[in-house]
Amino acid sequence: MGSDFENRLSDKASHIEEVLKAFLPKESGYARTVIEAMNYSLMAGGKRLRPMMMLEAYKLFAGEDSSEDVVRPFMAAMEMIHTYSLVHDDLPAMDNDEYRRGRKTTHAVYGAGMATLAGDGLLNLAYETAVLGAIKGKELSLFDGETSNRYMAALKVLTEKAGIYGMVGGQCADICAENATDVAEEEMKDTLHYIDENKTGALIESSLMIGAILGGATSAQVSQIEKAGSNVGIAFQIQDDILDITSTADVLGKPIGSDEKNGKSTYVSLYGMDNAVSKVKELSDEAMNILEELGFKGSFLDELFNYLIYRQK
Ligand code: IPE
Ligand code: IPE
Ligand code: MG
Ligand code: MG
Ligand code: MG
Repeated sequence: MGSDFENRLSDKASHIEEVLKAFLPKESGYARTVIEAMNYSLMAGGKRLRPMMMLEAYKLFAGEDSSEDVVRPFMAAMEMIHTYSLVHDDLPAMDNDEYRRGRKTTHAVYGAGMATLAGDGLLNLAYETAVLGAIKGKELSLFDGETSNRYMAALKVLTEKAGIYGMVGGQCADICAENATDVAEEEMKDTLHYIDENKTGALIESSLMIGAILGGATSAQVSQIEKAGSNVGIAFQIQDDILDITSTADVLGKPIGSDEKNGKSTYVSLYGMDNAVSKVKELSDEAMNILEELGFKGSFLDELFNYLIYRQK
């Protein structure tokens, strides 16, 4: 038996599995193999933290009892984008890892070509799903950001943060920095900040922002939630780098030692383990301070940010 919080976490993850299932493509027709590979990677488990954060942010702004219908397609879309990023990240041409979410990686089962297509398919399906949600969703109050339409504002965040000004940009810098022996330490530290903020921070930021936008937040509140997401996202990646050294493949469901194998610079390699551990706490505390400013102290999201500091997987 886990703690009360862990039980709630696991109930919420199960709920998200149900949401995801409602959006899975049917495994039929000439595209069947790629669809099987997409569903294989999507339904392999995973903590489902990004859609969970999106839903929690949505409920904080829209009200606990508000219908989830508005946000469900965006939750599914976010998990599709995250899963595609993992499928591609594991490819032989990238981190070359054999296990993910406790089972063989998509390319290990379906081959690198099909895994590449499964990633492409997931990214595209994410946009199909979110766009359809925006078309079919009930009318929402106007937004006071760059566009008054909340669905458009949410789509803008979803698409931008996944791309070259977000996750893809971070993954680019991550690859470019592999085995970088001729880079000065200070420059490498700046690069690492960019990497963590983008490869991992961006999708966590956008998850929270989309929940907030659809839930009725003002653009000032969305900016605050973006900052909280950035802090918690960077902390999340530093913890991932810590666990890559201190955990086991059994607990993580993915190999340990992947960063050393690939000559990655991480917060641990540049600043040392003790500083990495305290940085996770410092950044998470900053994120929780922002939640408090927004009036969300004691919320599930607040508890989740705190829990993630000490996460073991
Ligand atoms: C793994 O993300 C990749 C990183 C950004 C560190 P998660 O740790 O959220 O992976 P899943 O979704 O639970 O498998
Ligand atoms: C990748 O970071 C983050 C993504 C955008 C997929 P890592 O390469 O450290 O993630 P893991 O450890 O393979 O999950
Ligand atoms: Mg990687
Ligand atoms: Mg990796
Ligand atoms: Mg890692």
